[in-house]
Amino acid sequence: MNEKQRLESQQVQSPKNKEEKDYSKYFQTVYMPPSLKDARRRGKEDIKYHDDFDIDERFKEMGNGRKFYIRTYGCQMNEHDTEVMAGIFMGLGYQATETVEDADVILMNTCAIRENAENKVFGELGHLKHLKMEKPELLLGVCGCMAQQESVVNRILEKHPFVDMIFGTHNIHRLPEILHEAYMSKEMVVEVWSKEGDVIENLPKVRAGKIRAWVNIMYGCDKFCTYCIVPYTRGKERSRRPEDIIQEVRQLAAHGYQEITLLGQNVNAYGKDFDDIDYHFGDLMDDLRKINIPRIRFTTSHPRDFDDHLIEVLAHKGNLVEHIHLPVQSGSSAMLKIMGRKYTREQFLELVRKIKKAIPDVSLSTDIIVGFPNETDEQFEETMSLYREVGFETAYTFIYSAREGTPAAKMKDNVSMEVKKERLQRLNALVNDFSRKAMEAHKGQIVEVLVEGESKNNPEVLSGYTRKNKLVNFKGPKSAIGHLVQVKITEAKTWTLNGEMVDVQEAVEVI
Ligand code: SAH
Ligand code: SF4
Ligand code: F3S
Repeated sequence: MNEKQRLESQQVQSPKNKEEKDYSKYFQTVYMPPSLKDARRRGKEDIKYHDDFDIDERFKEMGNGRKFYIRTYGCQMNEHDTEVMAGIFMGLGYQATETVEDADVILMNTCAIRENAENKVFGELGHLKHLKMEKPELLLGVCGCMAQQESVVNRILEKHPFVDMIFGTHNIHRLPEILHEAYMSKEMVVEVWSKEGDVIENLPKVRAGKIRAWVNIMYGCDKFCTYCIVPYTRGKERSRRPEDIIQEVRQLAAHGYQEITLLGQNVNAYGKDFDDIDYHFGDLMDDLRKINIPRIRFTTSHPRDFDDHLIEVLAHKGNLVEHIHLPVQSGSSAMLKIMGRKYTREQFLELVRKIKKAIPDVSLSTDIIVGFPNETDEQFEETMSLYREVGFETAYTFIYSAREGTPAAKMKDNVSMEVKKERLQRLNALVNDFSRKAMEAHKGQIVEVLVEGESKNNPEVLSGYTRKNKLVNFKGPKSAIGHLVQVKITEAKTWTLNGEMVDVQEAVEVI
């Protein structure tokens, strides 16, 4: 199917609910709003791979003399999408700017994971309204996960009509056409496909850094945890072909990148959608570990699909780092069941036992949701005890946020916000404790640090990350930036380490 046919196959819908306003009257140009109902569907049709992305001749001059600015919210997936959009903008002749006031196009690449993520964006839209009033030729766009939600699109249409374009996560490669429409039209351009797109391989990318790079290995999520919006905003699981990933990692290595983070919402499901080859995440890691690049990480893995082969491959270490982010969400089997996580506390602990046996010095981190509907004190205590038992080194902790359209949003909840906040505080105190302990264990050790640059707080000091993803600040020559150096840890704080570079002479010689 070519682009045109595909576009036509996406149904153009007007709001069905009579109580909703009929927005279609506002539109003479593209109006293709999202539908959560369509996004929930998982079709059997094959995923098609395209490597024929090209910027149409008509659009090549579009950005001459114009600047773009993209503000990114949410996860690494979004950060990487921003790099792709930056690549497309550059291909159209635009230049990047770091200041909104200078921009001719502003995009908000949004996140829908929790209500406060969305509130930030709506707040920011309020600020940008003034800019738009001063500079009417400015184009303002909303893209990313929020754009995939009907209620968000309707709210923007109603409360923020000065927005020029809304497009979804499956429409990124259509940015040239969407911009063109927005310049030509007086109406808001809304193009959000709810059925996931295929896999498009040769999209241009302008990466934000030269030392660490993101590489997508798969898109979408089929897990449908009952609280989560991602399967709706990112569509069904689609894996990139192994040869395309391997080639991208090789090229990044050749360009001097030192660290790769493989991206997917559920990387352990990698390859499950291939029907011609039997090739899974463990196989991919086994191939990637042979590439000459110092470090490879991945995020995020779902405990359910973490298989023995993967553990065996990770145990080789080498460029596969001994840090695994393994979101558990809760320590209570009853809660895990209602969350739809498809594993029990015992199964999770068994997985951790296997990982630790194969990789004794592994560093584990996690994600936890507190205050899921009807979570009891005892169930929360089970999360606390699981945290201690595993000995996670750090965690991202969240208060449950109801997401419209998900099954959990319909659950009645008898837990007050006060109780939820109190639980979060207690959990965070535990997380801090464990982080401090893990940091203190580093004291006196010599660790490998990938030097990122000057420390944010003090330009006299360099900073970088260890294989276990701990931030280290130390004094050293600027020439070490972008290289791996050995640092002796002298001081441990809760979230960072201080140290002294050893073997300075050798590091300088390498450069
Ligand atoms: N795919 C990843 C998670 C991506 S979202 C995984 O399954 O591991 C990142 C984290 O946000 C989740 O792990 C979860 O802890 C949190 N999260 C997701 N939906 C949420 C919600 N509705 N309320 C609060 N936190 C949520
Ligand atoms: Fe969301 Fe669950 Fe998928 Fe993670 S695995 S993105 S939490 S549905
Ligand atoms: Fe947010 Fe979408 Fe990522 S909802 S967490 S930006 S996949």
